[in-house]
Amino acid sequence: MTMVDHLPPATAAGSLVPALSLRKVGKAYGSAQAPQWAVQDFTLDIADGEFISIIGPSGCGKSTLFNIIGGFFARYDGDVVVHGQSDATARRAIGSVFQEESTFAWRTALENVLFPLEAAGVPKLERLERAREMLALVGLEGFENHYPAAMSGGMKQRVSIARTLAVRPKILLMDEPFAALDEQTRILLGDKVLQIQQALKQTTLLITHNLTEAVQLSDRVVIMTYRPGRIKRIVDIDLPRPRSSEIITSERFGKLVGSIWADLREEANRGMK
Ligand SMILES: Nc1ncnc2c1ncn2[C@@H]1O[C@H](COP(=O)(O)OP(=O)(O)OP(=O)(O)O)[C@@H](O)[C@H]1O
Ligand SMILES: [Mg+2]
Repeated sequence: MTMVDHLPPATAAGSLVPALSLRKVGKAYGSAQAPQWAVQDFTLDIADGEFISIIGPSGCGKSTLFNIIGGFFARYDGDVVVHGQSDATARRAIGSVFQEESTFAWRTALENVLFPLEAAGVPKLERLERAREMLALVGLEGFENHYPAAMSGGMKQRVSIARTLAVRPKILLMDEPFAALDEQTRILLGDKVLQIQQALKQTTLLITHNLTEAVQLSDRVVIMTYRPGRIKRIVDIDLPRPRSSEIITSERFGKLVGSIWADLREEANRGMK
């Protein structure tokens, strides 16, 4: 036995402490007498710089898990540990994109993206540059001065994505961010988010019910069971990086999608009963 044997294994990006650690987290709705468990006993370590997708059928508890991790519930079971710390301030490393459209109606697209940069005290010229750059990245160049009321659902969702990406959070937490988009836009935007994620080495947790998206982007895909949401299986996505959406036509890609779908179909069927 060498000295090295005593050390904990290094994570993918080399850091010993997981960026995000979920320890037996759970959440029940309803009363204490008749709890309805939406998420139960969910334990997962996410390495620094890792891209994880969580996939599961509608109603399996994905948004509940999102709200637990983001710190949006006053009460839940278990612990959420961010960079080794479980206090509320550690949560500030997390940037969230919500499933529901969340633009500010009284601000233009540009002003929406500027908002968190103003709050973070980013100097004026830099924040303008960053906000414009992010809007262009999500394909909204030319729509800077549009108000949400004059934009489609998918456009508003892209404003929300740009607003969160502009802050360059260490940890990116997204709940079905591409759900309102058509398949083509979804795939191309996925490529762009992936480029940023790789460049910034962002730890990313993507909640989705889209198989292609999960396999296209992730290092690992976590399949959830249907009510209560637990971990059914974790699949390593051993596709080479750097990756672009061209990979979705490869044979290996098809195999991975097929294997995940077999599990997902089982859970979706339980959900439909
Ligand atoms: N505020 C709430 N009060 C009571 N039950 C809730 C509440 N929010 C969610 N639930 C229940 O918890 C379960 C999980 O809901 P959740 O929104 O987490 O699912 P989901 O996986 O995000 O679904 P979708 O893919 O449709 O967004 C569902 O059965 C839902 O009815
Ligand atoms: Mg949801």
